[in-house]
Order: sequence, then structure tokens, then C-alpha cells
Amino acid sequence: MFEKKFFFNTKKYSIISNGVVTKKSPSNIALIKYWGKKQNKIQIPLNSSMSYTLGEVYTVTRLSFSMIERKKRSIKLFFSGKEKKSFLPKILKFFHRISFYCSYLQYFNFVIETYNNFPHSSGIASSASSMSALSLCIMEIEKKLVSSLKEDFFLKKASFLSRLGSGSACRSIYPGLVVWGYHKSIKNSNNLYAIPYPYKVHPIFTKILDTILVIDETPKKILSSTGHQFMSNNPYAKSRLKCAHKNMNRLISILKMGDFKEFGKLIEHEALTLHAMIMTSDPYFLCMKPNTINVLYKVWDFRKQSKKNLYFTLDAGANVHLLYPIKEKKFILKWIYSELFSFCKKIIESFCQ
Ligand code: DP6
Repeated sequence: MFEKKFFFNTKKYSIISNGVVTKKSPSNIALIKYWGKKQNKIQIPLNSSMSYTLGEVYTVTRLSFSMIERKKRSIKLFFSGKEKKSFLPKILKFFHRISFYCSYLQYFNFVIETYNNFPHSSGIASSASSMSALSLCIMEIEKKLVSSLKEDFFLKKASFLSRLGSGSACRSIYPGLVVWGYHKSIKNSNNLYAIPYPYKVHPIFTKILDTILVIDETPKKILSSTGHQFMSNNPYAKSRLKCAHKNMNRLISILKMGDFKEFGKLIEHEALTLHAMIMTSDPYFLCMKPNTINVLYKVWDFRKQSKKNLYFTLDAGANVHLLYPIKEKKFILKWIYSELFSFCKKIIESFCQ
């Protein structure tokens, strides 16, 4: 287990004055949800989480850097080609948080150009893909400065930095099933960075599709980062944390045994528990839209009648992620388009990579 100071690079830097790095990073969908952070700590989760990294849902970030000539550093951000001053405070906070671990950043001006291939702030984890893409870019600069940087360290530190930008982002660094947060049953799991799920999984869980129903494209009213804070006075928080811990143990055994029905029940339970926390916080709020609920009922009916393996999960938004094994794709996808399309603004076909 690495100490926090491990990420402070003591090696000698080579000198570079400017350059451009580009990185692409995917979003992820949590099976066991991260909801709530430890108070008075920076980005330390209340519970461990596990996610699938998604294919074809990503952010591309191009980071140009040039040596500062005058004293004042400038950081500019362009989102889909337009300058976005409103995104800057989050980026500045991130640069401030990581400055101790990446002291070389202070010598450069930056231009960040970024785009998502999906709507931002709508419940598809855009902060996960954008913060991980930016962290990967920063690590790419570090690699130029420190020639001996090892791949393993590169990814660990990229995950560590991503976490300081957005908790769920630290899981996007690795493909497949990824764990973040200490859990006693998962070797090497820790609160500082994510790790690839270290145990064998049944083949059924290596080929899963995620069809994302975009119910609402408008930015979320309450951002996840605000929602996490409300766990501190949620009267049900203690039970939720116990439940998350138990669900992780259950998931570990399901992943080994290959029981898809149990898997489905577990992820739906996690999703609804997350929304129960959101609804019972003070202040309370509701992320689901009428069409979210319409879809959930439709999925339950379909499953009852067809006995197919189609299950949902949700982020802290209105959109629905539908997970199912690739071998059932033909039948299920046809049903999704014919029965659910009318509830959505858009359908994104993704997969768990
Ligand atoms: C519901 O990672 O967006 O998607 O750390 O404040 O940036 P911050 O929060 P964020 O929270 C994601 C919460 C979630 C569940 C999950 O992805 O585990």
C-alpha cells in the first residue's frame, strides 16, 4: 500500500518549455455506488465502490502548455470549441489540490481543449471522463519531465490525481471492473486511488452491454459533489454504509459464481438505494423524471414476461443504464428501441470494456 507522499515526485526533472498532449478517457458506471465523503478529508469516500468502465462514451482532452514568461499563470478552457469560463473554478480548484504532487505545473500556462461525445452534467458521468482525461494529460507531461517513469506508477498516479478532481474519475483510468475505496475483502483496495478488480470473474461478466437511455439532457440541478455533502446529516446514512459494505461482499461472490439474476437484483437495489439517499437528504431532492420511472416499470414487466436478463442502474441523474449479457443483445436491443425509445431524448449504445 503506497503512502500519500509516494506520489510526490522527487526525481530530477528534464527541462521542456512547451508542448501539447492529448488523451481520451471513458466514463464509467458504478455497480456499488460511491455516495458520501469523509468530512474534513479531501475526496475520501465513505464507502468502497465498484464500476464498469464504458466503451464509446468518452472525453478527449488536449492540453497545451508553455513556460510562464510573466509572473501570472493563465489557464484557459475550451469545451467543444467554445471558451467556458464557468468550468474554470473547478479546474483551478483541481490544479490547486494537485499542486503539491505536481509541482512542475506552476511553471506553465495551460490551454485545455476538451469535448465529450455525450451530454455533460446529465447523469452520464462527465466529470469522471473529463477529470481522468485531464489527469492523464498531466501525467503525460510528467512523463516528458521524468524519463524513468514506469507505466504502473503512471496509471496509479493518474488515478490518484483524478480522484482529487472527481471521486468517480479515479475508476476511469482502468478498463473492466474497477474498485475504489478500502474494503477488507478486496486486496490492495484503498481510498487514495482505484485498482482493477483483482479477482477472477465468471465469463458472463466479461461481455456486458450498457444501453444508456438519455431521458434528460439538461444539466443536473444538483451536482453530485453537492449531493455527497448531504450524506453527513442524512438520518439513514449509517444503514446505507452498512448496506454498501454488504453489497460489495455479495457482488464479489456473484462475480465469481456467474449468477446474472443475482447481479441484476443487486445493481437495481444499489441504484434505488442511491436515489433513496438523495430523496431523504436535507435538503431533499429528486433526480428521477417521470420517464425514468416509466422505463423502470417497463423493464420490470419485460423481465417478468420474457425471463430475459435485463437490469437497470442509475447515476445521480434521470438517465437509465440498461445492463445485459451480450449474448441476449439481439432480442433485448430490439425491444429497447421499440418500447423505450419514446421515453428518451437519445439512446447511447455502450458496453462494459
Ligand atoms: C452517483 O464522482 O461525480 O455517480 O467526487 O464530488 O466529483 P465528486 O462526485 P462524483 O460522484 C459520483 C456519484 C455517483 C456514483 C458513482 O459513480 O460511484
